[in-house]
Amino acid sequence: MQPAKVGLVGLGAYAPERVMTNDEWSRYVDTSDAWIVERTGIRRRRIAAEGETTVDLGEKAALAALADAGLGPGDIDELIVATDTPEVYLPDTSSILQHRLGLGAVPTYDLGGSGCAGFVQALDVARSRVLTGKRRVLVVGVELLSRLMSWTDRNTCVLFGDGAGAAVVGEVRRGGEILAVVAGTDGSRAGILGLEVGGTRKPFTLERAQRDEHHAIVMNGREVFREAVHHMSEAAQQVLELAGVTLDEVALVVPHQANLRILQAVAKALDVPAGKVFVNVEEYGNTGSASIPLALVQARAAGRIPAGALVLLTTFGAGFHWAAALVRF
Ligand SMILES: CC(C)(COP(=O)(O)OP(=O)(O)OC[C@H]1O[C@@H](n2cnc3c(N)ncnc32)[C@H](O)[C@@H]1OP(=O)(O)O)[C@@H](O)C(=O)NCCC(=O)NCCS
Repeated sequence: MQPAKVGLVGLGAYAPERVMTNDEWSRYVDTSDAWIVERTGIRRRRIAAEGETTVDLGEKAALAALADAGLGPGDIDELIVATDTPEVYLPDTSSILQHRLGLGAVPTYDLGGSGCAGFVQALDVARSRVLTGKRRVLVVGVELLSRLMSWTDRNTCVLFGDGAGAAVVGEVRRGGEILAVVAGTDGSRAGILGLEVGGTRKPFTLERAQRDEHHAIVMNGREVFREAVHHMSEAAQQVLELAGVTLDEVALVVPHQANLRILQAVAKALDVPAGKVFVNVEEYGNTGSASIPLALVQARAAGRIPAGALVLLTTFGAGFHWAAALVRF
């Protein structure tokens, strides 16, 4: 029998303790606090400690989500980890996290490489898994981007931060129902944001490593900016239409925290007042697939998501992938 309503049973997040300011970046690259704040709105980001890994961050967020749901590891039927910064190359992060969390022999999957869209894409998959018989799916979005990016490329390094967020997806009786999800991909834009070295096209070699190419994130910033605004606002409109809801009824928009200017442009395109858009990018930077759950947890803690509130999530990442979801808390 299908559960009546499927949604977010519990939420959790974790950000590493170390705070890195913009001024600190000027020790590594030719940049300044003023440039970073003006172009991105980012003031600080969290950086994982030396021994801390993707699974360490993911575990903390997952445990917080389980505690929030009042559930234990035995209550989870499946695990999906959205990450671009896996614990190891093989096997996937989800298998290592499954063991760490003591979930038992439940199936686990990584959703890798879809950048900042990963968490909402994984929510979409988790929702359909619950609709087809799983009791609960644990979804984790986790990134240790400080270890992926080049600390000598000012075009990218100042944008990112580390963090993790998680949700338990299952039958909901009170709030949290996922009313609708939309998602899309435009693979013709794959070359605009990515990291080639290490794959089969450009295998990892000593020469490439010596040139630091294994950290060379390729990004056409202006193009990414334009496409992010277009797809995040379009996906938001599509998910509202699918649910038969107007923007006026939405209490809070929680967009992927890429950059303050992108968030402002999305708010303008949607014609929503800035006060209706949750922003924490100044404190965390862009934390990829961790961004939406981290923002959701903080918005809820700040009292911005009262019972019954409609919350609109919208995101965009490398691929290009985009996704939006509408949740009634
Ligand atoms: C990256 C981004 C902040 C750059 O802002 P911008 O207004 O497009 O920047 P401009 O093109 O006007 O300026 C680029 C100049 O700033 C310089 N610059 C880049 N990073 C810099 C930094 N951290 N500090 C100082 N100067 C920097 C560049 O070298 C370039 O200099 P040049 O003109 O001498 O070559 C912006 O394009 C952006 O936010 N893009 C989206 C990125 C994103 O969100 N990616 C993740 C998506 S999920």
